[in-house]
Amino acid sequence: MKIAMVGSGYVGLVSGACFADFGHDVVCIDKDQSKIDRLHAGIMPIYEPGLDALVESNVRAGRLSFTIDLGEGISGADAIFIAVGTPSRRGDGHADLTFVYEVAREVGEKLSGDAVVVTKSTVPVGTGDEVERIIKETGTPHKVAVVSNPEFLREGAAIGDFKRPDRIVIGAEDDFGREVMRQVYRPLFLNESPILFTSRRTSELIKYAANAFLATKITFINEMADLCEKVGANVQDVSRGIGMDKRIGSKFLHAGPGYGGSCFPKDTLALLKTAEDYDSPTRIVEAVVKVNDTRKRAMGRKVVDALGGTEAARGKRAALLGLTFKPNTDDMRDSPAIAVAQTLMDAGVAVTAYDPEGMEAAAPLLPDVTMCDSPYAAIDGADVVVIVTEWDAFRALDLKRVKQLLTQPVMVDLRNIYKPDDMRAAGFDYVSVGRA
Ligand code: UDX
Repeated sequence: MKIAMVGSGYVGLVSGACFADFGHDVVCIDKDQSKIDRLHAGIMPIYEPGLDALVESNVRAGRLSFTIDLGEGISGADAIFIAVGTPSRRGDGHADLTFVYEVAREVGEKLSGDAVVVTKSTVPVGTGDEVERIIKETGTPHKVAVVSNPEFLREGAAIGDFKRPDRIVIGAEDDFGREVMRQVYRPLFLNESPILFTSRRTSELIKYAANAFLATKITFINEMADLCEKVGANVQDVSRGIGMDKRIGSKFLHAGPGYGGSCFPKDTLALLKTAEDYDSPTRIVEAVVKVNDTRKRAMGRKVVDALGGTEAARGKRAALLGLTFKPNTDDMRDSPAIAVAQTLMDAGVAVTAYDPEGMEAAAPLLPDVTMCDSPYAAIDGADVVVIVTEWDAFRALDLKRVKQLLTQPVMVDLRNIYKPDDMRAAGFDYVSVGRA
């Protein structure tokens, strides 16, 4: 099969490289010349474990190439994926579909044969209908089916998620679309990954419903964590206790500083907007968005409290370990670290920080935070150390050294990666999330 991937960002590049690895002939297209130049030179535009090697081996095998020329890239393609960004529209939170529609028009104008056009970008219900209308409007003589095929890739684990998915969702309105998509995903079908065929609108909604549900699970356990702190219970045991019930499931029940990233915050907002437009409010998701937003600053106040409260904290310094919204990524989008650092600085607390991959992206967002080149350099002379992101590198810190470097042995662990008993035994004044 010949596949064209329009948009070589996170989703497009990972999907394109994985399709090539299955043996398809893939062209990744992007209008950003410097991104394409860097890809030609083997430089990845994002940090994703294993991606550079996957890209390199498939380029070498002649199955993966890059271009800025959309007409050339889609020429002869059986399936053309649209994998461009759908950011939150400034001012109202709707998904901004400008890029998706621009690509649809250009694809329609430059089609050289029959093809299936697949939206992989996360798009609100009804976008596929509009993409189809735009393509028809170009007057293309070729047969086109517009299909929805949402991605469920986690940053940091995207290649594994692509190759061993829990399910593949395909929303198609005709046999042509369904048949081409069956061929595209044949290698995974042989792996026994379940494929769910639905209508296009259903598929579009599945993506939002999945992310909103996961965001709800996280927010639920975060509120349970707050309650645990008040009643003297342990949230990790609550998670285990409820997660063993197969109807609930154990995943996405880790309490922490609130969810961030490129998907949950934007997709929950966009779902609310769709629900509003259709006069069908989703009040649970509304609450999730509000609770998660306020939680991030609340985590900053937790650190202020650990420093002895507002008066005592002023003039002190906090060392933040981890800035990205989760480990194994350099992504800072909607990271709780931003709100935590801001809250601390608003309270007159100076902030030093270290992150294994995220400091370059974090620096412009947090210009007043001093970036350091190791965890220990950040901790040196600080009054509290705060674990914000659970990078493996922070799971086995040299606690003796940490204690020596701090002015006082205070740790706030927003990811519960240490055990309260161990930390107390090591002489720390230790605060975590949802654990007495
Ligand atoms: C998510 C979805 O998982 C993926 O299917 C979708 O396609 C894109 O959005 P991603 O944003 O990469 O992926 O990260 P994920 O691992 O889902 O974590 C999202 C946020 O939730 C992170 O901030 C993470 O720290 C937080 N989280 C996750 C928790 O606080 N607790 C949990 O138990 C799980």
